[in-house]
Amino acid sequence: MSTPRVYVIHENPEWFPPLAAAFEAEGVPVEEILLTEGQIDLGSEPAPGVYWSRMSASSHTRGHEHSKEYTRAVLGWLERAGRQVVGGSHVLELEVSKVAQHGLLQQAGFDVPRTTAVFGTTTLKDAARTFTDGQDVPFITKHNQGGKGLGVRRFDSLAEFDAYVDSPEFEAPVDGITLLQEYLTAREPFITRVEFVGGEFVYAVRVDTSAGSFELCPADACEVPQVIAGAVCDVPGADAPAGASAAFAVRQEITAEHPLVQKLRTFLADQRVTIAGVEFMETTDGRTVVYDINTNTNYNPAVEESAPASGPRSIARYLGGLLETQYAPQLTA
Ligand SMILES: Nc1ncnc2c1ncn2[C@@H]1O[C@H](COP(=O)(O)OP(=O)(O)O)[C@@H](O)[C@H]1O
Ligand SMILES: [Mg+2]
Repeated sequence: MSTPRVYVIHENPEWFPPLAAAFEAEGVPVEEILLTEGQIDLGSEPAPGVYWSRMSASSHTRGHEHSKEYTRAVLGWLERAGRQVVGGSHVLELEVSKVAQHGLLQQAGFDVPRTTAVFGTTTLKDAARTFTDGQDVPFITKHNQGGKGLGVRRFDSLAEFDAYVDSPEFEAPVDGITLLQEYLTAREPFITRVEFVGGEFVYAVRVDTSAGSFELCPADACEVPQVIAGAVCDVPGADAPAGASAAFAVRQEITAEHPLVQKLRTFLADQRVTIAGVEFMETTDGRTVVYDINTNTNYNPAVEESAPASGPRSIARYLGGLLETQYAPQLTA
C-alpha cells in the first residue's frame, strides 16, 4: 500500500508547478494524475489519499477532448470506493456547464444575466431574433462549456450575428450548446473574481477589461492582451508584455465580510463546492451580476505577491488538513 497523499487530477502539466511548490512549502505529499491517457483496473481499490479534481472546462482546447469523460469515469470510481474527493462528480458537472451554473445561481437569488441556451446551430439565428425581440441591441454569445472566454463575442446587430454564424469564423461549442446572453455594461472596465478555498474567502481579484478582451485566464502565460476572444489563454511560456500584470490586482476593499462574499460562501457550501473562483460585474445600472463559476483557478503571480493570503498555499493547507484528519496514524507512522 502506498503512503497516503493528495492526488491532483487534471490535464495540463503547465499549470502544476506553482501548486507543487505550495504543497512542498506546506509539507504536504502530493502527486499529479494527468487524465489525458491511462487505465484503471475496475476491480482494484484506489490508492489511499485525498483526491482533488481540477479538471478544466477548456481541456478540449489543449487536444484533450476526452478528458472530461475520463474524469467522469475516474471520479465515479473514486467516489464508489469511498475515497474523499474534493471537486467530485457534482463539481465537474458544474465546471463544464454554464447552464447549470446559471440555474443554481438564479435559484439562490443572485442577479444573473438574462440567458438563452441554444442547442445545435440550425436555430441560432432565430433564437437571436427571439432573444432580442427583433431589435438591434447588443448581446453576447458564449459556449456552455467554456472557461477561458471560449465563444465569447459581442454582437450589436442581428445582421452582424447572422453573418458570423454563416462564416467560417463561427466557433462551434464542443458540447453543441451556445448561450445567448444580455450584454452587461460595466460601470468601470473591470470584473471581479472572488477566490474561495476550503469554503473560505481567500481574496478578490480585479481584472481590467479595458483592452476589450473576454479571455481572462489569470495564469501568468495568459496575460497577453487580446482585442477580442482569441485563443492564447493557455499557450505555455507566452511572454507577458511589460506591465501586463497590472491587468490583475487584489481588490483590497472586498473582504470576507462583504455581503456578496458572504452570500457566495453560503451558496458554495450549499453546493458542496470548496475550491472556486466566482466572477461578478458591477454594471452602469447599479446591478451586481454573477455570471461565472470556475472550479479551477490558475492564481495570478502578481496578485499572489501582493495578496494577504496565497491561493495555492491555502489549497495545500486545506487538502493537507483533510489528509491529516483521515490518515493521521499512517502519516506519522
Ligand atoms: N453578459 C456579459 N456582458 C458583457 N461581458 C461579459 C458577459 N459575460 C461575460 N463577459 C466578459 O467575458 C468574460 C468571459 O466570460 P465568462 O462567462 O467568464 O466565460 P469563461 O467561463 O469562458 O471565462 C468575462 O470575464 C467578462 O469580461
Ligand atoms: Mg470567466
